[in-house]
Amino acid sequence: MPSHTPSLAPTTVVGAHNYPADLVAAIVRATEAAASACLPLVGSGDKSGADELAVAAMRDALGRAPFAGTVVIGEGEKDEAPMLANGERLGTGTGPACDVAVDPLDGTRLAAENLPGAVAVIALAPRGTMFDPRDVFYMQKLISSAAGIGVLDVGASAAENAARLARALAKPIDELVVGVLDKPRHASVVAELRGVGVRVHLVGEGDVSIAIAAATPGSGIDAVMGVGGTPEGIIAACAVRSLGGFMQGRMAPQTNSQRDAAVAAGHDLDRVFTLNELVASDRLLFVSTPVT
Ligand code: FBP
Repeated sequence: MPSHTPSLAPTTVVGAHNYPADLVAAIVRATEAAASACLPLVGSGDKSGADELAVAAMRDALGRAPFAGTVVIGEGEKDEAPMLANGERLGTGTGPACDVAVDPLDGTRLAAENLPGAVAVIALAPRGTMFDPRDVFYMQKLISSAAGIGVLDVGASAAENAARLARALAKPIDELVVGVLDKPRHASVVAELRGVGVRVHLVGEGDVSIAIAAATPGSGIDAVMGVGGTPEGIIAACAVRSLGGFMQGRMAPQTNSQRDAAVAAGHDLDRVFTLNELVASDRLLFVSTPVT
């Protein structure tokens, strides 16, 4: 095999003690199957082809997993991409009854362009404990390690949160690194953060990867701020809670029609969701396999 052929990096598993070993192994096989399946299309430019391969491989592997899973967070609705559908039943039907959050390929463009940060992820939680954000595709997210608990507030400005976190971490503000999706909607947040000296770590896509980093002390990213996908927000919440970090979220529809749909579905757009409201259990399993 030529040395430049992409190969899988090690899978991260958090919370393995919470579920039977055979189920954990099956979930690891499912993220690794998704990641392996799309490797041939890494760098090909074919986003949806890579996503389709990952989805099919993950669905097939999850069908054989020893649990009674229900997809609460399926991926793709926002972009009309191929998906594991919300409500879809997964697994053999024996074993723990779980809510399942999947993202067979987070960062489809990253994978298509062979840029770092694309991952295949699955989170499990006891049935009925994951918030189902159906009808709202975007969420404002504020994520850090445990240092942010009782300190950060999604209602405060980006600069204020950065100052609070720098104090809590006992580091100068110009050593604080905040991950932000590189999107036009974030121009003012980026300017505000840079204006107070914060180092902004911009990524084009894939906020699950930077959420995991933000919840992990010493990773080089201290926080995530800004608006990203809601499904990715619930997946991030599972990862952050498993890692003992801090997260708040708030629904953030990006267009008038998204806003109308969210309000019609009964969402309170001012409500701040705590980590416990995003996923209401400590009995979590989070598995992530890097694709790029
Ligand atoms: P996909 O891999 O499904 O395209 O998602 C990539 C992603 O960057 C997510 O990580 C992020 O939460 C979301 O898209 C942001 O959405 P948008 O690109 O529409 O701003």
